[in-house]
Amino acid sequence: MRFHVVDHPLIAHKLTALRDENTPSHIFRQLTSELVTLLGYEATRDLPVEDVEINTPVAATTGARLAAPRPLVVPILRAGLGMLEGMMTMTPTAEVGFLGMQRNDETLDIITYAERLPGDLAGRHCFVLDPMLATGGTLVEAIRFLHERKVRRVTCICLVAAPEGLKKVDEAYHQMDIDLFVAALDDRLTEQAYISPGLGDAGDRLYGTAE
Ligand code: URA
Repeated sequence: MRFHVVDHPLIAHKLTALRDENTPSHIFRQLTSELVTLLGYEATRDLPVEDVEINTPVAATTGARLAAPRPLVVPILRAGLGMLEGMMTMTPTAEVGFLGMQRNDETLDIITYAERLPGDLAGRHCFVLDPMLATGGTLVEAIRFLHERKVRRVTCICLVAAPEGLKKVDEAYHQMDIDLFVAALDDRLTEQAYISPGLGDAGDRLYGTAE
């Protein structure tokens, strides 16, 4: 697995505003979109392109367009949904699939409670969106699920990661062709499995239940 912390002044600036507990939901959503657009730019850097012949008003020329098959963007419900718009700004022709995952509080197992993906994922490049890489359980399970469906490549985009979650994903997929892009690697997980300093509960902050 390749791990990338995207180091950019705009990302640092926007992430700080996102973390601030005084940032209201509507600004939080806007900042999330902007951050994902910036992370998505880096995460799509090696998408394959093919030649295309076009005419400009001045001359015929050979340009580039994204090669088929289209990228598949997979937000993990609920909080990953807040990242979808920002990613689609970067990849407007991408296809979108959904994975709903949640932890069983007793067994701590990750349960896939909803799935809406194209039937045939063979050969596809999937971009998995989940804002908080905390324990890593959800991302490990999402990647396993997609590999089982024969995707060619997985790129994960998170806003903030905890070292504990990163270790878990890396241990599960160390040798594999997987990329993980984040805006920041934070200090640690709290006993309640919040990322510290983090930004709180991303779903609650996105959808207003934290105000
Ligand atoms: N999920 C969140 O929304 N926030 C955290 O800090 C950890 C997991």
